[in-house]
Amino acid sequence: MSNKDKDEYYDSLVNREIKGTKSRYKLNRKIGVGGMGAVFEAINLTDNSRVAIKTISPQLAHNQTFVRRFQREAKVGWILSHPNIIKVYEFGETGDSEDKLYFMAMEFVEGESLRSYLRSSGPLAPTECLEILRPLCEGLEAAHKRKLLHRDLKPDNIMLSKTQDGKWTVKLADFGLVKLLEPDSEITKGANLTQAGEVFGTPHYMAPEQVLGHQISPASDIYALGVITYQMLTGKLPVEGSDIRQLLIAKVSKEPPLPSEKNPSVHKAFDPVLKKALARSPEDRYFTVGDFFKDFQKVVIRLSDTGELKISQEALADIRKEYFVEDMSSNSQATLIKQTTPEKALPSSSESSKTKNLLPLILGGILLLLIAILVIIFN
Ligand SMILES: Nc1ncnc2c1ncn2[C@@H]1O[C@H](COP(=O)(O)OP(=O)(O)OP(=O)(O)O)[C@@H](O)[C@H]1O
Ligand SMILES: [Mg+2]
Repeated sequence: MSNKDKDEYYDSLVNREIKGTKSRYKLNRKIGVGGMGAVFEAINLTDNSRVAIKTISPQLAHNQTFVRRFQREAKVGWILSHPNIIKVYEFGETGDSEDKLYFMAMEFVEGESLRSYLRSSGPLAPTECLEILRPLCEGLEAAHKRKLLHRDLKPDNIMLSKTQDGKWTVKLADFGLVKLLEPDSEITKGANLTQAGEVFGTPHYMAPEQVLGHQISPASDIYALGVITYQMLTGKLPVEGSDIRQLLIAKVSKEPPLPSEKNPSVHKAFDPVLKKALARSPEDRYFTVGDFFKDFQKVVIRLSDTGELKISQEALADIRKEYFVEDMSSNSQATLIKQTTPEKALPSSSESSKTKNLLPLILGGILLLLIAILVIIFN
């Protein structure tokens, strides 16, 4: 299917009604087309709210492996509930075999992607990078704490919008769809790199181990975070290549230039932080997203203390704000209680429960004693 055919197909979906299990939706407008399908602005006809609907491209919809994995993986989006992660409301299929459509309904974000913002803004000041990184890292680390990886972090999947007081709101998209995007998956197996690239998107943000099809870990997401930060600071990508093959070779065979080498207006103090985030070997990277964020934050604070970064009083308070990761696990309380012995977790109530347990014995004992005394008296 050519891009023109794809566009025509997606345009033909505008005004279509989708019947989900939770709600009915109507597609109003095509927002954008990605590697997997297209995203539409839609209306939830059940409560009149605005939602975003992602549909799978017809080509991929014929691939049963893809569909099965989409359905399985989309569940991750349900599990995650965090202010910095786009909420998935439901996913499913609609229509009969002729015009079947696989879709995912999610929270609509008014704004633009980091990719489109960077295209118009050019390199960002370190304070603005920090402002975007904080919610981004807090969302990502919260997911990591639930043992969930993003695997396809890139500026296209980061949605930005400004609040009334001019602050950034940041939301991560496409959590959970990402296992599909591995180059060694069954879906891309047999396809050449360019074809595979169409399916799994740009490999600029993929960690070397991901490109090589090795095991991935939180460190792979940290690598992508490093590429995004590098791009925000310098306005350029750390590793560039004229085609996918060259890019992949460069990525796995040499260290990228330091940010200050790529763009001399970037302070050298950021070099070690980005070097560590972009280390070729996952073991040499930051261990957690928070470790990366805090090191970046330390540099910004240091440069503002020495006067090398000019920062307003208001921004000064913002950059010093403590990093906070919300616990998203709905079962965390239960897990905590299960892991701790009741005596240790809840000393006072367990003491009283012990007393409660002993009460029948004590009463029984007293009763026996009374009976014994009565028997002695009447004898
Ligand atoms: N929940 C959303 N609310 C509003 N706009 C969105 C939402 N999700 C995605 N978009 C927009 O739709 C565009 C297309 O998204 P889509 O995820 O299909 O493509 P992509 O992110 O460029 O690539 P990929 O398929 O690899 O994720 C995005 O660039 C973004 O601007
Ligand atoms: Mg996306």
